[in-house]
Amino acid sequence: MIHYPKRLIEVDLPIKKISEHARREKSIRHGHISTLHIWWARRPLAACRAVLCAALWPDPADPLCPPAFVAAAREEMDAFYNALDRTNRNCADPLVLRAALLDFVADFANWDNATEERYLSVARRLTESAHVALGGEPGTRPLVVDPFAGGGAIPLEALRVGADAFASDLNPVAVLLNKVVLEYIPKYGQDLADEVRKWGEWVKAEAEKELAEFYPKDPDGATPIAYLWARTITCEGPGCGAEVPLIRSMWLAKKKGRSVALRMVPDPEAHRVDFEIRENPDPKEVQDGTVKRGSATCPVCGYTTPVKSVRKQLKTRRGGAADARLFCVVTTRPGQQGRFYRLPTERDLEAVRKAAEELERRKAAWDGDLSLVPDEPTPMGGGSGAGRAFSQRNYGMDIWGDLFTPRQALALTTLAGLVQRAGGEIRKKNDAGCADAVQTCLALILDRQSNTLTSLSRWTNARENIEGVFSRQALPMIWDYCEASSFSDSSGSLNGAIGWVYDVIEAESSKENQKTHGQGVRSSATSHPLPDDSAHCFFTDPPYYDAIPYADLSDFFYVWLKRTLPPAAARMFRDDHAPKDEECIVDEVKGKDREYFERTMQQAMAEGRRILAPNGIGTVVFANKSTAGWEAQLQAMVSAGWIITGSWPIDTERANRLRGMDSAALASSVHLVCRPRENPDGSLRTDDVGDWRGVLAELTPRIREWMTRLQAENVVGADAIFACLGPALEIYSRHARVEKVNGEVVTLHDYLEHVWATISREALSTIFEGADTEGFGPDARLTAMWLWTLSAAGDSAADGDGNDSDDDDEEGGKKSGKLSGFTLEYDTARKIAQGLGARLEEMPGLVEVKGSTACLLPVRNRAASLFGRYDLAAAPKGKKEKQMTLGDVIDGEYTARAVDDERPLTLTGATVLDTIHQSMLLFGAGKSDALKRFLLEDVRKDPQFATLAQALSALYPPGSEEKRWVDGVLARKKSLGV
Ligand SMILES: C[S@@+](CC[C@H](N)C(=O)[O-])C[C@H]1O[C@@H](n2cnc3c(N)ncnc32)[C@H](O)[C@@H]1O
Ligand SMILES: [Zn+2]
Repeated sequence: MIHYPKRLIEVDLPIKKISEHARREKSIRHGHISTLHIWWARRPLAACRAVLCAALWPDPADPLCPPAFVAAAREEMDAFYNALDRTNRNCADPLVLRAALLDFVADFANWDNATEERYLSVARRLTESAHVALGGEPGTRPLVVDPFAGGGAIPLEALRVGADAFASDLNPVAVLLNKVVLEYIPKYGQDLADEVRKWGEWVKAEAEKELAEFYPKDPDGATPIAYLWARTITCEGPGCGAEVPLIRSMWLAKKKGRSVALRMVPDPEAHRVDFEIRENPDPKEVQDGTVKRGSATCPVCGYTTPVKSVRKQLKTRRGGAADARLFCVVTTRPGQQGRFYRLPTERDLEAVRKAAEELERRKAAWDGDLSLVPDEPTPMGGGSGAGRAFSQRNYGMDIWGDLFTPRQALALTTLAGLVQRAGGEIRKKNDAGCADAVQTCLALILDRQSNTLTSLSRWTNARENIEGVFSRQALPMIWDYCEASSFSDSSGSLNGAIGWVYDVIEAESSKENQKTHGQGVRSSATSHPLPDDSAHCFFTDPPYYDAIPYADLSDFFYVWLKRTLPPAAARMFRDDHAPKDEECIVDEVKGKDREYFERTMQQAMAEGRRILAPNGIGTVVFANKSTAGWEAQLQAMVSAGWIITGSWPIDTERANRLRGMDSAALASSVHLVCRPRENPDGSLRTDDVGDWRGVLAELTPRIREWMTRLQAENVVGADAIFACLGPALEIYSRHARVEKVNGEVVTLHDYLEHVWATISREALSTIFEGADTEGFGPDARLTAMWLWTLSAAGDSAADGDGNDSDDDDEEGGKKSGKLSGFTLEYDTARKIAQGLGARLEEMPGLVEVKGSTACLLPVRNRAASLFGRYDLAAAPKGKKEKQMTLGDVIDGEYTARAVDDERPLTLTGATVLDTIHQSMLLFGAGKSDALKRFLLEDVRKDPQFATLAQALSALYPPGSEEKRWVDGVLARKKSLGV
């Protein structure tokens, strides 16, 4: 058994403040490493910085804390806070000192303080003194290791807080980014920034010379900044054959005070449509888009060509980007604000034709080892795992080059050639290392361009700018895409790309960084290059189960990088594609199932424990919505010999709509703090057996205490549920194994079943604040818990801006079978239900299960069952079920009975929840008298009606029909004095 002082993070963490800083950081752009290059699921730096400080610094109030650190911390905090806010904290008191350190951690998480010398120097001194006090050699720094380094957020912050960093990743693109951030920028600093700007501008000037004729300015001096294109199909309507432009929305600009829309004018003779552009049109007159859920409606004859045929047609034309229809040119005008929209002219089309010819000429003359335009195949995609991100092959975009129009390919290949030429020039004048660093950054600039210069980039009418292909972690079909002009000064231009990369290098070029040492290395986390016990902190953010296919996505850039990097860096890019075999994700197409994920993750976690010193500390970030993902991750950690000693949810997403099944990630990511279960010599401890009854006895109070804290910190819903898994694991993982009295070993899986049930029960009692929930019945308990699970702190109404709701256009038919209502992953729903004594399968009128999704039915859908079986045959003549109003449905049985048997108000509702839903439906259908009678005669007798109705009012999402209805009922009830 090792005795070590706890670190701050094992005692407390100001998660609310850190979360605020992390969320705010999402809207910060200039100088933030996320703008250096795309990487998927980047961690906010604020969270990394705070967690690192709190993991590296011991708790001064711990009796085992080395006195040298207590003294150093006291001196620092005295000086820092008394100079800053003159609060005269008495840091001689260890608890005051702890609070001061935690305040510092929270304040330092603020982006504005991250480059402030005042904060940096204190943090670095504390890190060093903690390291030495814990046994490190004087003058050395702790080593932080991240084997899933991705875009490099964790190691970058490790350097900032005064540690050394060893970052590795399986993916060459990620490794390259880590090299830039951890090696090149600290080494070459501002010089690198200046050279990158200089040579970036050279590349731009040369490219402009070569390409000007393909991007002509308007005769009146306006500059085209974006060209809007629609892929097309031929209408398959009987005898039609018109060209159908595939357009998602006719709005070109949709802002307050300014709107512009496109209008199609069918020309049946010519078998096509013409376009008009209307400024500030009457929204009612704006036409619908032509494409919905992948099928295309012809503006000439009205026939809808089904998804399958649309795909088939586009497949034969490799996606149809090369022969798409240009329908609008967006320009800026000198001296005038805003964007202008015009129809394309012959000049525009001529330039496009010439560009295509030029590309063909260059292809024919090309004699490089690699094809001029990337001809490597795109990911196969499909399946239910991470591969679902890829649908481009359904449309025939089988090689990467298919993603680009001829003019885009001409521009990108010209840039690639110039980056190589620039590299040669720079090498003549600089040392090789520096020249490589500059050329590498130029290659990153080209990658930034490629993100907006594809036929999968779109024009956003809400912001009037370009959204790159990777605004999502997928390659979705974009029907009407936007082609940026590299040479404008607007969104998506080359100037922009140069500026973004420059800003990051400049912002991170603090001289202080040069003292610490960072390294980026390519390696699989499953076999780590470092020797045993050589690291002091293992802090990583592993792949989240089936959420993101990093390697497949990265190939988009990989194929360009191999054409643009200097020879030394290009060595990592010799293959066709980024390596995928060892990638630790769940991806059905690649045959990687849960078992594979768990096995490789366990290897990675075991490697982490091997390289970490026995008294070192670990933190593993996990943010996934699927219970399977969580269980696999936890199993891997426990099996690899880690003890969980703390767990903190940090909310990193900006508050938005109700989070249903569709968002893969939670709002918060849970940071699991862990320690090796080791003896002082580094060997694994196996002797400590836990008693099952003891473990269970600890569980409920621990969850209860934690739920209360989470609520105070504004962590609710699914976020809170998953955040409880950490503390639950603290109890279980403390032991090498847990046994029942009869010696039977309790598996993690069995334990987690208990954990889920406990979490459900405890969450429910926080929802009802101690009210007796037993009388409600399982349906009410389940409904309340379900809605709470979907709720997220600070969520606003469930409606979004029009742009996002277009999403389903991109996925052919798939979503048409989607459940409406409140959806949860089936497995999560099942576990919640179990803890509440409810079984999903036994609630057919309330819950619907489809595949891996479970849906709490909208109250509207319960009308027929709650008001008796409605006989369609008796429906008012000519009305089909679809056209029937809520009132019609209710009337069916309700009024019939009211007339027939003189017992009008005894409805079929059997439970309190049913009764509430009935009253909501009466309210919703405007049956005011019936509602009144119902409330006065039936509800009056039921004391639980009000308690539950009030709880539901707080739980139904703002803006939902349910919320409006239940509030209406409560108001009515009040006015009746019931
Ligand atoms: C969640 S991301 C890390 C993101 C990073 N924290 C950031 O802020 O950018 C997970 C990373 O794991 C990498 N990865 C997947 N399998 C791996 C393996 N077997 N070995 C090393 N890295 C792997 C992926 O390439 C990806 O970059
Ligand atoms: Zn037609």
